[in-house]
Amino acid sequence: MRLAAPHIVQYQGSKRILAPQILRYMPKRFNRMVEPFAGSAAMTIAAASEMRAGAYLVNDLNGPLVGLIEAVVANPDGFLRDYAAVWEGQFSFPDGHLAHFYKIRDEFNAGDTRPANMYYLLARCVKGSVRYGRNGNFNQSPDKRRHGTSPSKLAKNVKCVSALLRGIAQFSAIDYREVFDRTAPGDVVYMDPPYQGVSDVRDCRYLSGVSFNEFADSLEVLNRKGVDFLISYDGACGGREYGQDLPEGLGCRKVMLKAGLSSQALLLGRKSVTYEALYVSKGLIPLMPTVKAEKAAQESDFFPEAASW
Ligand SMILES: C[S@@+](CC[C@H](N)C(=O)[O-])C[C@H]1O[C@@H](n2cnc3c(N)ncnc32)[C@H](O)[C@@H]1O
Repeated sequence: MRLAAPHIVQYQGSKRILAPQILRYMPKRFNRMVEPFAGSAAMTIAAASEMRAGAYLVNDLNGPLVGLIEAVVANPDGFLRDYAAVWEGQFSFPDGHLAHFYKIRDEFNAGDTRPANMYYLLARCVKGSVRYGRNGNFNQSPDKRRHGTSPSKLAKNVKCVSALLRGIAQFSAIDYREVFDRTAPGDVVYMDPPYQGVSDVRDCRYLSGVSFNEFADSLEVLNRKGVDFLISYDGACGGREYGQDLPEGLGCRKVMLKAGLSSQALLLGRKSVTYEALYVSKGLIPLMPTVKAEKAAQESDFFPEAASW
């Protein structure tokens, strides 16, 4: 049984549980891992736990989110101190902990996007699911039953993530296409764009949506440069497929990874397995595990949680 790598924060769409399966499609060692849609950086952390790459580039258009991960890596003690001050504030707030959440959320939306505030909003909001309004403001509500991860509980993971990535990770908050321009052969680019259900529109679940056509066209840049890549892009549940396939002309191989039982189907009394698609670029196809090896490995995987859709 393989245990999950350390993680910093609960984030909608996190690949933490699926990471051991995705890592099987990456080379054992390579120069640099690039994550243009890093979110909580679950894949970067998982790859660093296995020392797969000599360097890492963590990018997400959501600046405060990248800023949070950078602070955790660069200055774990400073981050924990700041977070403790924000987190403890909720217990002495005159109008109770919910009012404290709204105060921090107002400050965040007014421009105080410090890592401690970002972390507190993520740790306290409903299901760790960020929601953004049309004006780009964070508008998710607090989870009334929880106070958010305590700083003492968080400390071990924060220090561990910092030890894995300090000195070898770079951070940016730019559009994924600009990240593609900065790649070179020897990099492996892992991509997990927002789900296609919301392509071509603003995605309130993240700061921005991603157009399917623009994304598919941009991938040609990586092929032209000879840069290897992997893409998690939608999937299937209960026999129903979600999302459009990427164009065959890209030369990728699509595999379906078992992501666990669908929590929504479980609520309706059904047991449906959720699969997530992984596209493997041309250069990585010869390294793919055989079907037999993949099946054996999946059986030994550890799925502590149901998939979220
Ligand atoms: C499905 S989430 C990634 C989750 C991540 N794999 C994890 O483990 O937490 C998609 C991410 O893409 C980011 N994003 C959306 N549009 C983007 C763009 N144009 N360029 C870069 N990142 C973008 C969102 O902010 C969001 O964090």
